[in-house]
Amino acid sequence: MTKLNSFNIGNIKIDPPLILAPMAGISHSPFRRLVAGFKPPGLFYSEMLSARHLMADVDKNSFWLQRTAVERPMAYQIVAAGPEEAAAGALALQNYGAEIIDLNLACPAPNIARRKSGAYLLSDLKLVETMLRAIRREINKPFTVKIRLGKRPDLPFLGELTALLNDLADAIILHPRLTSEKLKRRARWEYIGHLKDMAAIPIIGNGDVKNRHDCLKMFAQTGCDGVMIGRAAVQKPWIFAGISGAAPEIDPDFLFSTYTEAFQLIRDFFPTNKALGRIKEFTWHFSRNLRFGNRLAARMQSIHNIDACFDFIRENFIRAY
Ligand SMILES: Cc1cc2nc3c(=O)[nH]c(=O)nc-3n(C[C@H](O)[C@H](O)[C@H](O)COP(=O)(O)O)c2cc1C
Repeated sequence: MTKLNSFNIGNIKIDPPLILAPMAGISHSPFRRLVAGFKPPGLFYSEMLSARHLMADVDKNSFWLQRTAVERPMAYQIVAAGPEEAAAGALALQNYGAEIIDLNLACPAPNIARRKSGAYLLSDLKLVETMLRAIRREINKPFTVKIRLGKRPDLPFLGELTALLNDLADAIILHPRLTSEKLKRRARWEYIGHLKDMAAIPIIGNGDVKNRHDCLKMFAQTGCDGVMIGRAAVQKPWIFAGISGAAPEIDPDFLFSTYTEAFQLIRDFFPTNKALGRIKEFTWHFSRNLRFGNRLAARMQSIHNIDACFDFIRENFIRAY
């Protein structure tokens, strides 16, 4: 067993210092429970939530907000376009019971940029400062900010942003790609190290950690306090057990029973029309465990009945291994 040092975000202890990433369409309660069933990370993130919609209405039964006892502590992430909606969204989540609130300054998706939010905001640090101050005035819970590098690798820019965050946030998550890069190119881990040198608050590194080896390497190379994992946790929901040195035996039976569990958790939680898309999204990532998984996931996309999807996977899973 590897013992990694815990760290704190405000008064919340993150132990182990491993974090499940926010992923729209994936980081919902059924997925978080699947991961927790193997070994929980020290912190879960929600999918990004539109602050504008939270302002209008916090539905306690919302599928995006609900979580169970095993999904703790949890940071709820907002995506917002300006100080008023950011502050109101953050307050709504604090009132809902979030342990930690996060502001997304990392998402490069065109629909998010069109609303002048996510990574788009990195082009206007004055506005970012106003938003951070507005959130800080409204909430007393620990507050994190997830960032990218911005338009180009630029240390003075990162320094300016860090100075702001040192004063106004409790931790920074850096996914060190440019805003224009989506998930292409390698993540520039050296910038996590630079950020760690400049920051007075905990730094969480993120990007391209696929296994225990990568995770330990990110800690060692960058000096970061925590490591956040996204896609590799969808492919291998047991990854946090693996990092602590307790990896399960991977064979076709194990993979099929894990897939079946994910399928059932999603189907039981969401109404059928919402469950189907989420199962398909999960299948894209999970099928990477199978040699012919990509073909399997691709063929499943055209099936529009949830039971037929499961029948199809059951009949073809072993053949794709
Ligand atoms: C399907 C998908 C959805 C994502 N949604 C979000 C999101 O809602 N908020 C966010 O900050 N990042 C989001 N991300 C980015 C991840 O949190 C993470 O930064 C990125 O995948 C790099 O980490 P990884 O290499 O461990 O996957 C998403 C990534 C994927 C693949």
